[in-house]
Amino acid sequence: MSAETVLIRLNGREVSAPVGQPLAQVLTAVDPALRFSPKDKAPRGMFCGMGLCFECMVEVDGLRRRSCLTPVSAGMVVRTGEGAA
Ligand code: FES
Repeated sequence: MSAETVLIRLNGREVSAPVGQPLAQVLTAVDPALRFSPKDKAPRGMFCGMGLCFECMVEVDGLRRRSCLTPVSAGMVVRTGEGAA
């Protein structure tokens, strides 16, 4: 059984992703650096994968979200890296 795929907008470009899959899995497949440390600009990415560390914070539809806890849904607009909130 394969999951239905939908389109999301990631940093301005369309990406196909399985609906309901944790967003962090989709994002790290594209680029493991989800954001950069505000202190030293070091790349940060998914760590715990269960909502505890906040390392996977990205911007989803204008709001900060832990991507490991955010399921993919059609049309979501995601920003990572320097552009994330
Ligand atoms: S990876 Fe730790 S909160 Fe998402």
